[in-house]
Amino acid sequence: MTISSQHLLNTTIIVMTNYQSENIYMKNSMEFVGELLERATDSEYLEKRMEMNKKSQLYDFAQWSIEQINPKEGDRALEVGCGRGTQAIPLSSIIGNEGELTLIDLSEESVKHVIHFVQEKTKTRGIQGSMDNIAILLGPALETYNVIYSVYALYYAKNPTNVLNEMFNRLIVGGSLCIIGPDGPHGLVELARKFHSIPPQVDNCFQFRSKVLEPFFKKNFPKFKISFLKNPQTITTSSQFIDFYRQTTYHNKNAEYKLQLYVEQQLNEHGEIKFDKYSYALVAEK
Ligand SMILES: C[S@@+](CC[C@H](N)C(=O)[O-])C[C@H]1O[C@@H](n2cnc3c(N)ncnc32)[C@H](O)[C@@H]1O
Repeated sequence: MTISSQHLLNTTIIVMTNYQSENIYMKNSMEFVGELLERATDSEYLEKRMEMNKKSQLYDFAQWSIEQINPKEGDRALEVGCGRGTQAIPLSSIIGNEGELTLIDLSEESVKHVIHFVQEKTKTRGIQGSMDNIAILLGPALETYNVIYSVYALYYAKNPTNVLNEMFNRLIVGGSLCIIGPDGPHGLVELARKFHSIPPQVDNCFQFRSKVLEPFFKKNFPKFKISFLKNPQTITTSSQFIDFYRQTTYHNKNAEYKLQLYVEQQLNEHGEIKFDKYSYALVAEK
């Protein structure tokens, strides 16, 4: 069965699995490298993207993602790819000073930024490094967690299944794993595609749930939950659009002018541009 975000909007389903192992997609054949990786990991780009998302989205994505992760007071939590702390900052207040939060990100600036905001709320360990080395970064396997999560980050791994395996191994029995990411079609990507090609790595992210995550969750958990969020975004000025577009991983300098003209024309006709953004959350208990 293929589970589609378009058929299951803002809903949750429980998938029962039969413990049988399936072929797991192991290697990420579409690695983010060079400028694409820089755009994906740069703390300033991320900050601007988040600002733009906040201004244009109908629903509060940060709140939705925290509801999916569902942390409790005193939790020992691990986040892989913490960025600027969209989840870590609110989560730190919930787990409180009885809890502990370990953060990993490739960007040193992002890790420092998050630590600054969370260290007074909870015990914090910030690690700058690649999730590809997660086992080494976390140290001895004695370090375990009861909440492990990653939001819009896991598909950057060279071998995401290795990262998932390590997350699973570090999870205590009864602990929960939550992976959140983007589902297609993405309205802005589809608009940009009318004017230029989209890097295959970006399109690959939209396949990540069905090709990597679902097989992994089916293999390792007796059941798991999938929730979808459809988050309409509204843009009302051409400069808002261009600012947003320039922070994306698929920004194309050569096509920018034509795209801007098209957007201006649409804004003149309709007063705004609306597009949908879909997210999924897979959650399971060990
Ligand atoms: C789109 S951001 C998401 C951040 C945050 N979870 C949020 O929802 O705002 C993705 C994050 O993954 C980090 N990242 C990318 N590749 C990574 C890697 N190989 N190891 C660790 N972090 C990585 C980036 O630096 C970035 O902070």
